[in-house]
Amino acid sequence: MSYHETVSRKSVVDITAQKGTAPIVVLTCYSAPYAALLDPHVDILLVGDSLGMVLYGMDSTLPVTLEMMIAHGRTVTQHSKRACVVVDMPFASYQASKEQAFTNAARVLAETGCQAIKLEGGHEMIDTVSFLVERGIPVMGHVGLKPQHINRMGGYKYQGRTEEAAKQIVSEAHAMQEAGSFSLLIEGLTEPLAARISKELSIPTIGIGASPACDGQVLVTDDMLGLFEHTPRFVKQFGSLRTSVEAAVKDYADAVRNRSFPAAEHCYTPKR
Ligand code: KIV
Repeated sequence: MSYHETVSRKSVVDITAQKGTAPIVVLTCYSAPYAALLDPHVDILLVGDSLGMVLYGMDSTLPVTLEMMIAHGRTVTQHSKRACVVVDMPFASYQASKEQAFTNAARVLAETGCQAIKLEGGHEMIDTVSFLVERGIPVMGHVGLKPQHINRMGGYKYQGRTEEAAKQIVSEAHAMQEAGSFSLLIEGLTEPLAARISKELSIPTIGIGASPACDGQVLVTDDMLGLFEHTPRFVKQFGSLRTSVEAAVKDYADAVRNRSFPAAEHCYTPKR
């Protein structure tokens, strides 16, 4: 590849430019087959730290490590070619200082080949976000319901319910923009609050559980595909993967028990 060969992947600049023109399609993605399947249809593949709960069955995102995010992030970039890949910074990998955030975010960028990182935060993260952005690390901010703050919030609840709390979230959203975020994920907000933030900011908002009033939407792919028995109420299911998997596994088990498998020689002899 020549030094300045054009990269066909969507960049963070392309994503920011979509505001006001085309809604931004985002899905979470953690693995090679999903990366290949989702890539042609989305603007952003988000390697979210939700992978701790979705893939590893953890109770929260808190135990997810930087190594896990790097391993899954690398797989997703290697098996996609056009979507912008954003990788979440896991809990305790960026909050201690802006220097800690830079060291770890630089590893994520260099070792995964992703286009940007995402981090949760408000005013306390302004210095960190501008420190990263000024040094070449694009940042997607994440405000509203912040899953890494689960213990302080006391559960996954809608945020900004009082006027005071709503004001605080609006001001955090502006702070993230001023610090240089290229886009902002807003989670668990009522429609008027999401609409206000989306109208006031010049960077695009990507909503989850935050109404259609955002510039784009993200869902956890496995929720959207109907893999789980229970999903958050805001999730619209576009598939019924759980039913398909259960039916396929049952058919497989029946086939094994009935010995109705093709003989090995039919599987390995090349067809002529
Ligand atoms: O980790 C994640 O998947 C997220 C969701 C809110 C989309 O950040």
